[in-house]
Amino acid sequence: MKNVLVTGGAGFIGSNFVRYLLKVEPNVHIFNLDALTYAGSLENLKNLPDETRHTFIQGDICNEQLIGKLFHEHQIDTVVHFAAESHVDRSILGPAPFVQTNVIGTFTLLETARQAWGPDGSGKRFHHVSTDEVFGSLSPDDPAFTESTSYEPRSPYSASKAASDHLARAYFHTYGLPVTITNCSNNYGPYQFPEKLIPLMILNALQRKPLPVYGDGKQIRDWLFVEDHCEAIYLVLKNGRLGETYNIGGGNQPYNIDLVKEICSILDELKPAAKSYTELITYVVDRPGHDRRYAMDITKIRNELGWMPKHDIESGLRETVKWYLDHVNWVSAISKQAGYNDWLEKNYARREK
Ligand code: NAD
Ligand code: DAU
Repeated sequence: MKNVLVTGGAGFIGSNFVRYLLKVEPNVHIFNLDALTYAGSLENLKNLPDETRHTFIQGDICNEQLIGKLFHEHQIDTVVHFAAESHVDRSILGPAPFVQTNVIGTFTLLETARQAWGPDGSGKRFHHVSTDEVFGSLSPDDPAFTESTSYEPRSPYSASKAASDHLARAYFHTYGLPVTITNCSNNYGPYQFPEKLIPLMILNALQRKPLPVYGDGKQIRDWLFVEDHCEAIYLVLKNGRLGETYNIGGGNQPYNIDLVKEICSILDELKPAAKSYTELITYVVDRPGHDRRYAMDITKIRNELGWMPKHDIESGLRETVKWYLDHVNWVSAISKQAGYNDWLEKNYARREK
């Protein structure tokens, strides 16, 4: 691993991964390609561990010419592909960019890598970052998803991610492209855009705005602290077997409503107000096709690569709440980003019961 192309490295997980990789790999140079959509920001890339080994390029993963040029000019040997449209609610209100970026963009990257690397992919790696949502929705007593669970995506977001996973796997089997894939559960932690559940709840609470819980709040997600995800991807890059998929998850199963209450109680302690933040919890109209439960079986990555999450949900949540409290400048810059308030209006005004 020498010249690493990270796509989507100005987003939440990508920017955390850039920081992580600069720390653990002292000799890599990262070429960070990001279109800077509403979800990406250079604010996420301030104070990197070593700026001299990081080059930012603003551009679209669907731009074949640009990607071809990057591969050739910088002798890219490793791709870590995060760039995506990532928010389920946005995919419901406007699916087109999801098909464009997640399907066509992934195809463009795979095809460019195939042409640049030729039939001999030795010393090369294309790592595709995906999600547990491709497996669909579990009932309360169903066993957790394994790597061989059938794909059954149920939102435009997860369907587009499933399509991209299939393409990545097809490039391994058909062309021998040195592909690995990870499917991960819900991430949380520093630099997450405040459209997702945890940062949205923290920021709404601090502004004493309603905390909008969809439906009955009894949906279950498996939550993973973002740094643990970065470590898992790194181990797969180093030691994962080509053509293989690895499930990654945090091993917890809270109801959404309990998670929101936990955020409130951490805030009650760290930033006490006259009334408890729990009073702001408001049940709102559910997400259409809302997946009820996800759970990940991480036996394979644990046995093969020795990976286990280092953070439990209690310590990870506390660290996250503190991070948002301590980074008011980041919060203020991100909240002013184009379209954020419009999104809140678009997604939540129609949800009032
Ligand atoms: P994010 O929305 O925070 O960041 C996505 C980044 O991709 C942004 O910086 C955006 O500007 C960039 N981008 C979007 N379209 C682009 C395009 N056409 N060309 C170049 N850049 C583009 O997303 P995230 O939460 O960091 O997720 C990163 C990846 O991890 C995604 O592939 C997502 O499916 C996957 N994933 C996310 C989670 C999660 O809980 N957030 C869990 C599992 C997997
Ligand atoms: O499971 C992995 C996936 O996790 C990733 O692939 C996605 O990119 C990521 O966005 C996330 O998807 P979710 O839809 O699970 O995350 P989100 O934070 O949007 O919602 C988490 C849960 O909280 C979900 O059950 C919906 C609910 N929710 C969400 C929001 C934004 C609410 O109740 N209220 C809200 O306002």
